[in-house]
Amino acid sequence: SDQSAFDTDVWTLTRFIIETGRQAKGATGELTQLLTAMLTAIKAISSAVRKAGLAHLQGMAGSVNVTGDDVKKLDVLSNDLVRNMLQASYSTCCMVSEEDKELIITPKDKRGKYVVCFDPLDGSSNIDCLASIGTIFAIYKRVTDGEPTDQDALQQGNNIVCAGYALYGSATLVALSTGAGLNFFMLDPAVGEFILTEKNVKIKPRGKIYSVNEGYAKYFHPSINEYLKHKKYPEDGSAPYGARYVGSMVSDIHRTIAYGGIFMYPANEKSPKGKLRLLYECNPIAFLIEQAGGLATTGTQRILDVQPEALHQRVPFVVGSPDDVNEYLSYVKKFS
Ligand code: AHM
Ligand code: MG
Repeated sequence: SDQSAFDTDVWTLTRFIIETGRQAKGATGELTQLLTAMLTAIKAISSAVRKAGLAHLQGMAGSVNVTGDDVKKLDVLSNDLVRNMLQASYSTCCMVSEEDKELIITPKDKRGKYVVCFDPLDGSSNIDCLASIGTIFAIYKRVTDGEPTDQDALQQGNNIVCAGYALYGSATLVALSTGAGLNFFMLDPAVGEFILTEKNVKIKPRGKIYSVNEGYAKYFHPSINEYLKHKKYPEDGSAPYGARYVGSMVSDIHRTIAYGGIFMYPANEKSPKGKLRLLYECNPIAFLIEQAGGLATTGTQRILDVQPEALHQRVPFVVGSPDDVNEYLSYVKKFS
């Protein structure tokens, strides 16, 4: 093959993080350590999601383990990976994981100044059908001294230092922002590095796709159903929107950023605050969407302004292209 086509000065995510760290005033390198550890976990999860080592696990020589009973479930494995890699990076003091009820406190000798809220493997209902799933995280600086407490994690999204998601799709991709725009990095499995593939990503002002679990329409507030009706039967003669819903938020969000449009997980009669969790699902995504020029709201409040009260609190979530989200908000007004 043609070796001259090789970029010998490529921007990897590792390089990007080191460079960003050097430019930050008073940086100690702790965030670089943290992100490096997070990327290691993401690469390992990606490999597990793609069933690397499957032949070995199933016992190629004939000593089969068909039940797979001693094989760790993917979501448990992912949680262990993120927890262990982050604690080993000497950069965290505590963490919140979707998989753990309580605040995870870093052993004293391994503590650093950051707080990480994460969902190690989002879209768990998609694991067994091999549809895309993802990892989501938000990083904050701690706000208390002494023993870490819930208070360190109960910060507004406004305080996010860095957030990102990994999408284990037809390729593995990381979307990351430290507050200076949104960048996409694609995993090159041959090198084991994420390569910068899209810089300073911006979402379209308006899209042509809506994304919601419409099966719950019976339980939605009329403002949602009126808005959706307008997407399907536009009164002004424009073309109806397309509908897409993977049911894996990272996939639905990544498509929304890439193509434009709106994603919603609104409140409904059965779940009055919706389903998605503020700390490790909505806040990181809201931060990234805003970095791309989009909007994220509960319907009555900007997501990043919400003051969290509990580690696993839920909020209604509507995100996407600014014109689409504002149009939805006009329906909220009409019905209030
Ligand atoms: P999970 O954390 O248990 O995987 O649940 C979160 C997921 C999101 O990825 C997705 O947007 C949503 O649940 C789908 O829920 P529903 O099946 O109710 O539409
Ligand atoms: Mg989740």
